[in-house]
Amino acid sequence: MTDAPLRTDWTDRLANGTAPEPDALRGHLRRIHRDHAGFTESCAMRCRDAAGRTSYAWLAEAVEPARHRVLLDLACGSGPLLQLCHASLPADIRLIGVDMSPDELALARDRLPEGRARLIEAQAQQLDELDDGAVDVALCHWALTLMDPVAPVLEEVGRVLAPGGRFAALVDGPAEAAPGYADVHDLIYGHVQAELPAYGTVDLGDPRVRSSDDLVALARAALPGASVRIETSVVTMSGPAETLAQEAAGFFYAAFVLSPAARLRMLADLAGLLSDMAPDGQPTFAMPVNRLVADLA
Ligand SMILES: C[S@@+](CC[C@H](N)C(=O)[O-])C[C@H]1O[C@@H](n2cnc3c(N)ncnc32)[C@H](O)[C@@H]1O
Repeated sequence: MTDAPLRTDWTDRLANGTAPEPDALRGHLRRIHRDHAGFTESCAMRCRDAAGRTSYAWLAEAVEPARHRVLLDLACGSGPLLQLCHASLPADIRLIGVDMSPDELALARDRLPEGRARLIEAQAQQLDELDDGAVDVALCHWALTLMDPVAPVLEEVGRVLAPGGRFAALVDGPAEAAPGYADVHDLIYGHVQAELPAYGTVDLGDPRVRSSDDLVALARAALPGASVRIETSVVTMSGPAETLAQEAAGFFYAAFVLSPAARLRMLADLAGLLSDMAPDGQPTFAMPVNRLVADLA
């Protein structure tokens, strides 16, 4: 096993103190999704909110089958949300998935009946294969946070949505909403910053997406006249500390840039933290989530 950490143009620019370009960000993300395709769903499917829903199920509740006949899953990844929509929505609702990672799209293709969804390899900033007004509802699960520039993404969503269409996105919520989340975050980032000190001062995507107020302002600016709202929730998972540490670390792209040896040290420390946070019960990881819903005029 190599002990070399993941290094890309994006991490090199961080190390040199220069602002990474959008191309470097996309290259970094493609590399992680090539090496770890399907990792998002393996963490996100384990987490549930107080009502027992996954974040995918919560997001999919934004779909109103009577009026949403064409559904776009933007940055669909390995396709768990498309599969959920296929299983739970009427069979004549058309499904479209877009992602820039061919490795993730291959997993999405394999899990759906042939021809059930139109899968497109594209950047969310440039949805050229979709006509104006072609979509009734656009969903985006845990991906908007990674996109920079993000305004063109929201503008493209506005272009491809039909009048009265809906955009719903699941993104990271405010840290303070989830007990212990900030401690987990700081522990992981502490290990990463020991190797790459600028990680965190610069992060993936546009930082405004991580702030509820800024995200609402971005959506209002890109989707003029839309009614925009945001709701915060928390999803949690429990289990033995060592297993939970691995699963929780899967939510943090930062953890992927650690060398294998540093990752093992981080996981051991994280397991210790998760145990300490639950002295009398089962270790639990809590993740804050925001659901943005924008209804076009
Ligand atoms: C955290 S994963 C989420 C995948 C899936 N939505 C899920 O929740 O399981 C983020 C996905 O966004 C995709 N992505 C990131 N930036 C993108 C962009 N600018 N255009 C298209 N896809 C992008 C990545 O390739 C990856 O599949």
